[in-house]
Parts: sequence; C-alpha cells; structure tokens
Amino acid sequence: MPDSEKPVTPVTFPSAFLWGAATSAYQIEGAVREDGRTPSIWDTFSHTPGKTVDGDHGDIAVDHYHRYREDVALMAELGLDAYRFSISWPRVQPTGRGPAVQRGLDFYRRLVDELLAHGIKPAITLYHWDLPQELEDAGGWPERDTAYHFAEYAQIVGEALGDRVEQWMTLNEPWCSAFLGYASGVHAPGRTDPAASLRAAHHLNLGHGLAASALRSVMPARNSVALALNSAVVRPLTQSPEDLAAARKIDDLANGVFHGPILHGAYPQSLFETTKSVTDWSFVVDGDLAQINQPLDALGLNYYTPTLVSAADPAAKGPRADGHGASEHSPWPGVDDVAFHQSPGERTEMGWTVDPSGLHELIMRYTEEAPGLPLYITENGAAYDDKPESDGRVHDPERIAYLHGHLSAVRRAIADGADVRGYFLWSLLDNFEWAYGYAKRFGAVYVDYVTLERTPKSSAHWYARAARTGTLPE
Ligand code: NOJ
Repeated sequence: MPDSEKPVTPVTFPSAFLWGAATSAYQIEGAVREDGRTPSIWDTFSHTPGKTVDGDHGDIAVDHYHRYREDVALMAELGLDAYRFSISWPRVQPTGRGPAVQRGLDFYRRLVDELLAHGIKPAITLYHWDLPQELEDAGGWPERDTAYHFAEYAQIVGEALGDRVEQWMTLNEPWCSAFLGYASGVHAPGRTDPAASLRAAHHLNLGHGLAASALRSVMPARNSVALALNSAVVRPLTQSPEDLAAARKIDDLANGVFHGPILHGAYPQSLFETTKSVTDWSFVVDGDLAQINQPLDALGLNYYTPTLVSAADPAAKGPRADGHGASEHSPWPGVDDVAFHQSPGERTEMGWTVDPSGLHELIMRYTEEAPGLPLYITENGAAYDDKPESDGRVHDPERIAYLHGHLSAVRRAIADGADVRGYFLWSLLDNFEWAYGYAKRFGAVYVDYVTLERTPKSSAHWYARAARTGTLPE
C-alpha cells in the first residue's frame, strides 16, 4: 500500500503546525465608502445588473470593518494560531497610484494590533481581486503599468506593517483574476477578451515579482514573501494520448502559466503552442522572467476540487462544466478541443466534488516541483446550505467531514515528506461569494445577513478542538 493511503491514526499534526482561517477584504469588510475608500472593480461589477446572483454586492458584506474586534475575539475563542486576510487596495491607495490614505492603513494597523494582542499571527494577502477602478479604467491587468502600480502599493503596505506582520502573500489566485476576469468575464471586470486575459496573466506575474522585491526592500529579512495559487489538480478522463494531451493543455493554462515563470523562470513551451491562435506573447519583455522568478520563502496552495478533462471535438459545443460559473466565453484561451467532466462523488453546494486525494496530489506535486519550499494550504473549505436549528445552533456535519478528509490528506502528505507548515480554512465567516453573492456559505461561523450576528457552526467547534489539540477529533 503506498504511504499516502495508509491511515495515520490518530491524525496528529506537528506541534508547530499553524491552524488558521482565511478571508478577503471585499468579501467581508463592507464600509465601501468610508475613510476615503474608492470603488474597486468588484464594486462596479457587483452593481452592474445581472453580474451577481440576486444583484448581491459587498457594500455591507458582513461589516467586518466595524466588527473586526468581535471577529478577532471569535478567532481567539476558536484558538486560531493565524489569520489570513487581504488588504483592500482602494482603501489604501484610492486611485491605485500616489500617496497612501492613512485612515485606510490605520484600519489594518488596528486589525493587526488586535490580532497580535490575542496571540494570532496575521498573514497578509495584498491582492485578493479588488483592483482600484481607476486602474481598470486605465486598462487594468492587461496593461503593464498595473504591475508597477501594484509594486508601489506593496511597498506602501510593507512599510506600514512589515514591522509586525511576518507572513506576506502578493497575489491570491491570479488564475481567477486573469481568466475569470478577462476571458470568461464571470468575475470583475467582466471582460471577455482571450488575448487580454493572457496579457493580464503575464502582468500579474510581473506584479508579483516586482511586489516581492518591493516588499523585501522595506521589510525585515525575517519576513516571509509568498503568493497563493489556485493550482488545479487536472486529471485526464482516460489514459488515451488524446485525453492526456487535453489534460496537459489545461494544466499549462491553470498551473504552468503561473508557476512556470514564478518557480522556474520560464513559461512552458507547450503553453505558447496552445495559445498561438490568440497571442504571440510579445508583451513579455526582456528581463521580465528574471524579475518574476524571485526566490520565495513559501508557497500558498488553495484547493477545493479536482478538474477532470478529456479531448473533445471542437464542433461539439456543450456546457463547459469546469466549475467556474456560467458564461458562453471560455476561461481557457486558445483551447476549443477539451471537455470538462464532473468528477464522481459527493458534491458541495458549489457543485464541486469532494475529493481529498486531490489535495494530497497537489501537495506532493509542489513538493517535487519546488523542493525545499515550505508550503501552506492557504485555502480549503466547502459551501453547504447551513441553517440555524430551532435552538439557534448551526449543525454542519458535511463540513466537518470535508475538513476531516482534507486535513487527513494534508497529514498524509506530511508523512510522505511534504513540508506543509499550516492550514487556513476558507472561510472564517460566511461571506460574499463573488458572482454567487451571499447564497453560498463557506464560513465556519454562520452569519445572519439581517442582524449580522455571528454563530460558530459545529464545524468551528470541531476545528477549534483540532487547533487546540493538534489532533483531528473523530
Ligand atoms: C477562492 C477565493 O480565493 C475565495 O475568495 C473564494 O471565496 C473561495 N475560493 C471559494 O470559492
């Protein structure tokens, strides 16, 4: 039996393992017009009719901007070691350029101090999708300048918080920013231009590299600089050469396009081949790849479900079913001969198959691809249709099973030699699930969207026990 399948019982983690939870600014903060904040692309997009379920937007979200003290107290109650959150770029630099707004930065100073006072390690993500609208009006991520603006913003935040925050991530899931934002258009800014989406991917990579250098130039050397990738676990439906080739194409566009330049300093040759009908990649300028290929201190992996693909006849147009929202426009530029399939097994409310073996596979892949690089699971979790019972409690046994399965997979990967240092559950609180609005609840803590009252679900209590004991409760 391979090591990865051997049960490790009880499932106990190394004592230094970080037990965390994650959120992002636009999904929880609200207060979109306060203290000098200006609109981001998600304000514009969510207020455009038809773009989100029920026209939901983040104007109030879960009002974390005003309730952060209560939320940090909750985290402390749950015994979290670490909290991953993002900074809202338009709160700090409303036009995306120029000097910082101190009131915006002050919010994050207060939040960080509150976390530290409770013994919780802050982990900052600089970009979780909320580009200042002014920068989008100037061309957004397809424009090279956006990468330089991002580095300037990174430097501002690094200077302000680098003395007390050790864990930094530049980007969150750049795949979504590039391909859902600029190709399929199901995310802000909602553009559907395949060539622009590849330019966006490159400029996100460049932005990461420039921001990593900028952070390092202003922060103490002990701080860790990383990013959080939603690296896909792409599986071929069969082992036929055609299906393997289909998986290869999607793997290049889901993974290689980011980890190629970031970890290895080069885009995969096969990616150029796949996308040649869309772009000649002439926007990659001499020196870019070296700038992008910054040494990292860690790598964040976000994982939810695997991606199952096969070769398809380009003429047979069917629903895409790749789990990334409904759009006639594909998020896979240059690919018209791949079909996406639902992996077998139970599904969450997102329709995503529950498959912890994918997380193990992902961790082992990066253990090989980036030897010696510490890994963090920067997101993992599930949406279920949670409802309070008559006693006010919220029971979510499916989420407990999901977490148990995935954390066990992490533990197996550690047993197999992977250097996984921590796990951030997505998400601390129910929140604004982008195009799905408030309909999908990912929180370990239930939020009543009328009263904004927070109630830890049974999964939160389960997770608290795991965090406290370092062992998964049965
Ligand atoms: C990844 C994103 O980073 C996060 O913002 C989102 O809510 C979760 N996945 C769930 O879809």
